[in-house]
Amino acid sequence: MSSADEIRDAQRARWAGLSASWEKWASIILDQLGPVGAAIIERLDLADDQRHLDIASGTGEPGLSIAKLVPNGSVMLTDLVPEMLEIASRRARAQGITNIETKVCSGDDLPFSDATFDSVSVRFGYMFFPDLAQATAEFARVLKPGGRLCAAVWVKPEENAWTTIAMQAIATETVVARLDPDGPNMFRCAAPGAVSALYEGAGLRDIAEWDIDLELVTRSPEQYWEMTSEHVSLVAARFSRSTSRRGSGSGNT
Ligand SMILES: C[S@@+](CC[C@H](N)C(=O)[O-])C[C@H]1O[C@@H](n2cnc3c(N)ncnc32)[C@H](O)[C@@H]1O
Repeated sequence: MSSADEIRDAQRARWAGLSASWEKWASIILDQLGPVGAAIIERLDLADDQRHLDIASGTGEPGLSIAKLVPNGSVMLTDLVPEMLEIASRRARAQGITNIETKVCSGDDLPFSDATFDSVSVRFGYMFFPDLAQATAEFARVLKPGGRLCAAVWVKPEENAWTTIAMQAIATETVVARLDPDGPNMFRCAAPGAVSALYEGAGLRDIAEWDIDLELVTRSPEQYWEMTSEHVSLVAARFSRSTSRRGSGSGNT
């Protein structure tokens, strides 16, 4: 079992390596994940002067969309990886968004005072924290009384063909290690009720879970393969391991 510091270091290196690909493929990724961002925004019930915290913001979503909806408020974008937040800042400037700040930090160790934010979002970041309960306790701590937390995680691999097709293709060419179900990976929180249990453990109330359908649209099978192998954490990790094992020397991360 890796220590929290080892997990953070590994995640920092992995996502720093993926950041250029997330920028390169931004328009396809944003289209694919857009319905999840929209569902988060709907549940947060935003007021225009809201003070919002976006955790694991990556290249900026859903934090940047929220910033546009709270013109008299502000959004704090946070991520473990500075390279990701640099992209988010560039995207904010390009869209004329000025009511944001960025802060490099880990989701399970937030540098903010108690009861600072009206709302917190975490889109596809939860699964990568070293300690999920500690991270949830941090979200609850920085929320004002009555504030809302909304997070998105992936359901099980069998229901995510867009990732598993690529993973299975790699597995036909090389031996791949089994996923550690308790380690950081995109399917770690897939079990129904897993996130609700964390929320309950942190003393949150009025908890609900629901499914959102997503569609990944690429121009061609070749583009699907290229973008998936370059930016999906699990696929990129397997691909780089398998290429180095075969000695081709050109991993994609
Ligand atoms: C799948 S991306 C999601 C990015 C963005 N929220 C989105 O939906 O487009 C996951 C993000 O989690 C970040 N991350 C990984 N471990 C983290 C941690 N311990 N604390 C904060 N962010 C972390 C990564 O750097 C990466 O930007």
